[in-house]
Amino acid sequence: MLRRVVGLASTVGLAGCTSLSASTLDGDFGMEPNPRDLPARQHAQDAVLRRDGDGNPIAPRHHAVLLLDLDREPSAEGARTVERAMRAVEAAYEWRPEGLLHMLVWGTPYFERIGRSNAAPISPPENHSRTDDPRLEGFDAALVLSSDVPSHLQRAESTLFDDGEGGGETFDHRLGEVFTRVGKRTGFIGSGLPRKHAEAEGIPTDAEIPESSPMFMGFRSGLAETQASEDDITISGGWFDDEFAGGTTMNLTHFQQSLSGWFEALDDDERVDRMFAPDLTPEDVSSFTQSVPFADAVREHAAEHDVVGHHEKVAQAREDGDPLLLRRDFNTVDGGRAGVHFLSLQASIDDFVKTRRAMNGWYVRDDSPRITDRERNGILEFITEVSVANFYVPPRSDRAFPGFRADR
Ligand code: HEM
Repeated sequence: MLRRVVGLASTVGLAGCTSLSASTLDGDFGMEPNPRDLPARQHAQDAVLRRDGDGNPIAPRHHAVLLLDLDREPSAEGARTVERAMRAVEAAYEWRPEGLLHMLVWGTPYFERIGRSNAAPISPPENHSRTDDPRLEGFDAALVLSSDVPSHLQRAESTLFDDGEGGGETFDHRLGEVFTRVGKRTGFIGSGLPRKHAEAEGIPTDAEIPESSPMFMGFRSGLAETQASEDDITISGGWFDDEFAGGTTMNLTHFQQSLSGWFEALDDDERVDRMFAPDLTPEDVSSFTQSVPFADAVREHAAEHDVVGHHEKVAQAREDGDPLLLRRDFNTVDGGRAGVHFLSLQASIDDFVKTRRAMNGWYVRDDSPRITDRERNGILEFITEVSVANFYVPPRSDRAFPGFRADR
């Protein structure tokens, strides 16, 4: 009830202002309705993904996250430009991996800029590691792009941002009129791609990454039952009308990988111990179809085997048997260095924090003197956290300046 009263009070206080959702842009701000029939949620992509032989969704093969800062203060005019630019992308590419999937997401500095930090569904990132010292980053926004066709990513970026002075093609309305690109994360996931990038620093020259491996560490990830569903990660309005409902939150963490120990000091069995659990064998792992069974015995494994696996630790964060995160991470060689851009979607940043802490596994140190914050503790010995940032992913209708109210 209190939330409702507060909500009403803020509406009254803002008489004469209106939010810039697509419906108001269409009406009050003079735009036509979006002619494309696309999912209401920007993060609803599973329905168009290809499936592997076991029915698991296959992530698009190429990824880019363009990190953006606003060049001008939010306004109805700016929102129109942003919305028109995004509709131009939607007209140019089909909403499927053979075309282009995209999300325009908004970071904590944007919510500060519009004076709505307290209302924002996200909080600034924090360091959850005792051994790493990641940059805690904030960007006004980011454009998340993915496709099976690498040239679609490049072309979408240049038509959305370049002003055409160099003679290249551009859209009539461009994100470049509103934002500056301040950074870019790129990467890939899928059979054959890690092996193709095996010359990156962090991977030993004689590492035998299997041709079929979708990830540098040699395993596949994202089996259907290890993921939260798109419905479960969507912010629900609950009994009050939450202006951010229908969206989700996004965490973006960059990890560098140092895989000489992974490939040289560990054999196949030991890699399975670290990635999954010490009671599983490589044969077990190759028999997984849509789920990763786990014994729910992390502390017992620490005491008996002096090693714990990544999967069994993060699975401790499940609620009612379901994972809290929908992971859409990918490998990278940004900076010439092997790594992972961990990109996860969840209803609340708290869900990410709970899972990230479960990955630390600090509690198992009590059960084994050989397990440290990094050693024999899942995959932590082989990865270093470089940077972390949080974003809000609005529903498509609210993707231009979510939460901002403009004068009519
Ligand atoms: C940086 C490198 C990482 C690699 C290579 C990696 C790899 C994997 C693999 C192979 C699996 C099991 C198979 C599957 O996904 O179906 C898995 C599961 C999982 N990982 Fe990671 N992961 C990484 C980082 C993270 C981080 C940073 C988090 C969260 C903070 C995380 C959370 C999870 C979760 C929630 C699951 C599923 C657990 C469940 O079934 O309940 N991972 N990961």
